[in-house]
Amino acid sequence: MYSPAATRYDTPNFYRRCGRSGVKLPLISLGLWHNFGGKDSFDNARAIACRAFDLGITHFDLANNYGPPDGAAEETFGRILREDLGKWRDEIIISTKAGYYMWPGPYGEWGSRKYLLASLDQSLQRMGLAYVDIFYSHRPDPETPLEETMGALAHAVRSGKALYAGISNYDPAATARAAKLLRDLGTPCLIHQPRYSLLDRWIEPQLLATLEQEGIGCIVFSPLAKGVLTDRYFKGIPADSRAGHDPRFLRPEDITAELLAKTKQLNDLAQSRGQTLAQMALAWVLRHKTVTSALIGASRVSQVDDCVGATRNLNFTGDELARIEAVLKM
Ligand SMILES: NC(=O)c1ccc[n+]([C@@H]2O[C@H](COP(=O)([O-])OP(=O)(O)OC[C@H]3O[C@@H](n4cnc5c(N)ncnc54)[C@H](OP(=O)(O)O)[C@@H]3O)[C@@H](O)[C@H]2O)c1
Repeated sequence: MYSPAATRYDTPNFYRRCGRSGVKLPLISLGLWHNFGGKDSFDNARAIACRAFDLGITHFDLANNYGPPDGAAEETFGRILREDLGKWRDEIIISTKAGYYMWPGPYGEWGSRKYLLASLDQSLQRMGLAYVDIFYSHRPDPETPLEETMGALAHAVRSGKALYAGISNYDPAATARAAKLLRDLGTPCLIHQPRYSLLDRWIEPQLLATLEQEGIGCIVFSPLAKGVLTDRYFKGIPADSRAGHDPRFLRPEDITAELLAKTKQLNDLAQSRGQTLAQMALAWVLRHKTVTSALIGASRVSQVDDCVGATRNLNFTGDELARIEAVLKM
């Protein structure tokens, strides 16, 4: 019988306000994109989720298509809720998304009201939930009017099936338009979920400023560049690593000698700060106050511990930042 650690809220600084909303999110959130699928060990998935909650991670991020197969991560999480975490539902922020391919035919992906609302119902059923905390449009749809997509998110909130609306992968201009639409509909945009890491800085020139201006929170995904910004690949490609066993989104050939030369230098810098490379990479994305949370994935419990340890040192000296920039420009 799972019983959460009594110490889980002992670090109040572990939570940041999400934009100008009433919600705070943990500095580190857990995503269930990988390692929670149909073929993954349930015991390991359960151990990761429960350890995360013990460490104060109150936010779990899902999407309709996480698996494989599609939907399996929501089913796994539903079982974890049923057997372990569900008793603490009111302490947990659960998000899901719709936008990528989920089922055949013209209504199984993108941003129509038809797809989004049907997908949300399916997600709730898989997780055994009456509502999710955040429902996202997973990607902008160039063919569906933004009014329709945002109208569907607003409807999800008004119907009580989601508490807040979110968007993911929207560029700054579309973000500003979505924010206005949702505000006008009376269901303000809580959060944006973009990709951001030392190796992918597209949000820096404009998106962060847009989010700050609109009062929208920001949870950044793949802050460890899917595992590249860790010591995982320093001695080759381990069979149990993402590139080693599930190369759908990270292929062994993506981990080039040039990339490793960079990450090893970043690792030296991290060590001089008393951190692992993963910890420094997370502290680095969290140096922006607009970034509410770093959304990690984990394949084992020890990684969750290591990642949460990042929050012990979120400060960088000017010299450290300059040395990081120099390595990135290499
Ligand atoms: N909105 C979107 O379009 C979108 C897209 C992608 C992801 N996401 C969300 O973001 C979440 C995180 O994405 P991600 O899994 O790519 O994030 P990530 O944190 O960049 O990468 C996670 C991987 O890094 C490795 N790792 C984690 N902690 C480590 C540590 N302390 N030491 C060594 N290795 C460590 C593990 O790799 P191994 O498995 O090799 O051990 C783990 O699976 C997803 O679960 C999902 O919720 C959203």
